[in-house]
Amino acid sequence: MIVAIDGPAASGKGTIARKLAQEFDFAHLDTGSLYRMTAFLVLEAGGDPTSPKDASAAARAVADRLIDDEALRTREVTDAASKVAAIPEVRAVLVDYQRNFGNSPPALAGGSPVKGAVVDGRDIGTVIFPGADVKLYVSASPEERARRRHLELRDRGEAAEFAQVLADVKARDERDASRDISPMKPAPDAHLLDTTDLSIEAAFEAARDIVAAAFK
Ligand code: DC
Repeated sequence: MIVAIDGPAASGKGTIARKLAQEFDFAHLDTGSLYRMTAFLVLEAGGDPTSPKDASAAARAVADRLIDDEALRTREVTDAASKVAAIPEVRAVLVDYQRNFGNSPPALAGGSPVKGAVVDGRDIGTVIFPGADVKLYVSASPEERARRRHLELRDRGEAAEFAQVLADVKARDERDASRDISPMKPAPDAHLLDTTDLSIEAAFEAARDIVAAAFK
């Protein structure tokens, strides 16, 4: 069983995906972290995130390195991630990794048998797993997503103006949605979940009901 979850940054999709994985004994893959790792490795090597050569070399090295999650969430890496994600060679390298994960999900840490995979990103229901058993497209208004991101940055001690965070959110949406390859968009058969006015618990419950219905 594969659950594909797409949507823009700070829509709540990552939290929903993690909670669904716990609820249903699924392995979880946050595919944004693959693009973030690629960006991190390019920057670390002093390369250019817009260069297909630099970025695809970094993408090939992704599976070999464990990188601390905090280091992947800085503004610099976040910005570079949406640049490497627009490069076809990078996406081609990362497709196999994602499909292997979904088709043969790794064992769960707690020892329960793994029953499927939840994979979240931007193109999971459209390109990576067009035949996924359940597809969700999670969204929220740009202002609400900027508010969440602003709080997250503040908690991490990265001071930023709200107006700047909002501008970053909109710029990244624009880059992710307008690129030629695998743009961010809902699959025609995706369930749409707008979390603008929902608590994380309410959003999770809505997602859980949709996935549970697919089991029946
Ligand atoms: O979800 P995130 O913010 O961690 O994603 C980081 C970047 O990677 C973001 O700019 C979108 C891109 N991305 C993508 O193009 N395709 C995916 N499946 C996942 C993320």
